[in-house]
Amino acid sequence: MDSRQKVLSALIEAQGSALSGQALGEALGISRAAVHRHIVELRALGYTIGSAPNRGYALMEQPDRLDLPRVLARLTTRWLGRSLRVLHSVDSTNAEIKRWAEEGAPHGAVVAAEEQTAGKGRHGRSWLSAPGDGLTMSLLLRPAMQPAEVQRVTLAAAAAVTEALEGLFPDTQFKIKWPNDILIGDRKVCGILTELSAAAEVTYWIVIGIGINVRGTPGSMPEAIRDTAGTLQQTGQTADRAALAAAVLGAFESLWDEWMESGSFDGVLRRYRAHMAYEGRPVRVALNSQSLEGVLSGVDDEGRLLIDTGSALIPLRSGEFSVRRMGP
Ligand code: BTN
Repeated sequence: MDSRQKVLSALIEAQGSALSGQALGEALGISRAAVHRHIVELRALGYTIGSAPNRGYALMEQPDRLDLPRVLARLTTRWLGRSLRVLHSVDSTNAEIKRWAEEGAPHGAVVAAEEQTAGKGRHGRSWLSAPGDGLTMSLLLRPAMQPAEVQRVTLAAAAAVTEALEGLFPDTQFKIKWPNDILIGDRKVCGILTELSAAAEVTYWIVIGIGINVRGTPGSMPEAIRDTAGTLQQTGQTADRAALAAAVLGAFESLWDEWMESGSFDGVLRRYRAHMAYEGRPVRVALNSQSLEGVLSGVDDEGRLLIDTGSALIPLRSGEFSVRRMGP
């Protein structure tokens, strides 16, 4: 943490009690003037910090900013996010954590950013989110896992994020569009991009990039996603993004630990299946240049999508489907 973050961290820990500039400076090894400069900077960033002569500074209100001390203050995990970088702006949190992975970032490292300038989506698309409107973060895992099993991690991530969202928005129904889009109604509020580095039988690392649309209305969205994207704000409730980040990391860590400790994927599958969208609905799956039509019939034990064509139950490892509307 830099010294401004340390000042913020001390103010958060004091929970609204006043801390004198002198005491803060001594505790952090910086001058009173430097403390004052950081207070001015924090106020400019939107923090409401009261000050009274002879009493010191007290944090009255926090803006919904993704600042490292704000995320750390809410984090309840043991290992996930305990190596944490929170950046103001980055090309893509997936790209950043991959660079960090190459330098030796540990299992459980996390990168979050207020703004991505080149956010990546699945199938080579971009992930668009205005600064401050979304939660964009990436998790690094280094499990002893065959590359063929990595699809399971994708499903686990979708189940964990869905459960975290349900915890924060108990009145809203969240569903998963296979493999890992999270929807409110038919609108996508979260996308997950899993990337990995692997050789034939070894997985070196897995990156799970999570993008959640927090604020905004369809009208404020980029045109390309206006008809299909949704935001958490549309539930009529808001979420603090630092709290959201901590909730997602907490939910993922507990799901992961349960999976690894039991040695069985059944629990994750059960939780995934409980949230699956469009089951029993007629769908069309795009497969390279062809398409397949049938009824969406869940996922098998490996996490493959099952399509019932009427004559066969076809398992699909990848592909994108659209729901066929039954016309009048
Ligand atoms: C999708 O296409 O649905 C997946 C979108 C994944 C977006 C997230 S935002 C954080 C992380 N960094 C990226 O560049 N992409 C993922």
